[in-house]
Amino acid sequence: MEAVQAVRGMNDILPEQVGWWQGIETSAREVLESFGYREMRTPVAEKLELFARGIGESTDIVEKEMYAFEDRNGDWLALRPEATASIVRSYIQHALHAEGGCRKFYQIGPMFRHERPQKGRYRQFHQIDAEVFGLDSPMIDAEMMHMVGVLVDRIGITNVGLNINTLGCPGCRQVYREVLKKFLIEQGEGFCGDCLRRRDTNPLRVFDCKVQKCAELLESAPRLLDHICNDCRAHFDAVKDHLERLGTRYAVNPRIVRGLDYYMRTTFEVITDRLGSQSAIGGGGRYDGLVRDLGGPDVPAVGFAMGMERLVLLLEQEKERPLRSPFCFFASLGDQARAKAFVLAQQLRGRGLEAELDYEGRSLKSQMRRADKSGARYVLILGEDELARSEVQVRDMLTKTQRLLPLENILETLLTIDSQK
Ligand code: HAM
Repeated sequence: MEAVQAVRGMNDILPEQVGWWQGIETSAREVLESFGYREMRTPVAEKLELFARGIGESTDIVEKEMYAFEDRNGDWLALRPEATASIVRSYIQHALHAEGGCRKFYQIGPMFRHERPQKGRYRQFHQIDAEVFGLDSPMIDAEMMHMVGVLVDRIGITNVGLNINTLGCPGCRQVYREVLKKFLIEQGEGFCGDCLRRRDTNPLRVFDCKVQKCAELLESAPRLLDHICNDCRAHFDAVKDHLERLGTRYAVNPRIVRGLDYYMRTTFEVITDRLGSQSAIGGGGRYDGLVRDLGGPDVPAVGFAMGMERLVLLLEQEKERPLRSPFCFFASLGDQARAKAFVLAQQLRGRGLEAELDYEGRSLKSQMRRADKSGARYVLILGEDELARSEVQVRDMLTKTQRLLPLENILETLLTIDSQK
């Protein structure tokens, strides 16, 4: 019978790889919590309307990539393509703004986009996402980018770049939209169908286009950065000053528009040149109007998300795979010895240490091979003779030395030996 396969673009994370994931998650929790962020977990499915209103009807994500479906009640739902809209929904729904002041949240989990899968781009992928509500200050924009740098460093990735830009406020954007539209019209009909449509509906989205001829035509397009108002310029200058104060290196890249409609003012991307075309390992920015647009109070916000698959790909290039191995492997010969090993292994586990054993009565040679392969620090060898004399062989797998010790209180003895190393 033919075996069922996983859905294309949705991957298993196997035990050999999971060490990378756990390491990244631990680093993310440590770093984000030290900056005052607290974890939030929202459902993977939301009402479709949330993403349409939050991310924007004419974005690629909403137009082409959403896993949207009608459930059995006839409600239109979608698997979340990102976490920001969900966190904003939750922030409004639970009146998390009521306490006043600034609130910082993070979320780690799977997201879903129906994109064409390739290396670094999947249909189910995972993000580390962080959001701050209630701060206008350019300090928080800079702090967030600095924090991303700390996080990337803690995870153990080197050589990433930070690109920043400003998208201005709705006021300057309106001015720019007209300038851009005029440019697009002047260029004629050379653009792809999507871009021609976007020219009228949402001109800024032409910068998301992946078609080569569109990218070429857009090279001489006017830049938003040259059309921002004085307030937005002052905000952007202050963000840059703070970044310099923090020693965070950056480059201004006026081409960053981001693929989601909610951004205004600061936007940024964390990039690498080691993942081929999927060069963004993270991105984010300010989205001051979104909480209000989704039915909440007028609260400013900034956030970012990093793609965990891309972080894992980079780690694989740079580091040895992290392995987990038992503290002790119990090898035994004979039923009685095996039964004793079985009890000792549970006792060691009860103390929080990883223990492995042979359950099946294999030959000592095969057990030793398994112990070696497992990377166990110690092997306890219990044979019938040792058992009769209440003794046990303890093999230190690092020094390859072995000694005979009394079986009584063997776990305490082992722990004492280990603590003296
Ligand atoms: P985004 O740029 O769409 O932003 O996604 C953030 C990161 O998620 C990307 O830089 C990339 O590393 C990863 N990513 C996105 N799509 C895929 C995919 N199909 N496969 C693998 N990795 C992917 C957002 O999602 C915003 N919500 C970020 C944000 C938070 N802005 C404000 N707050």
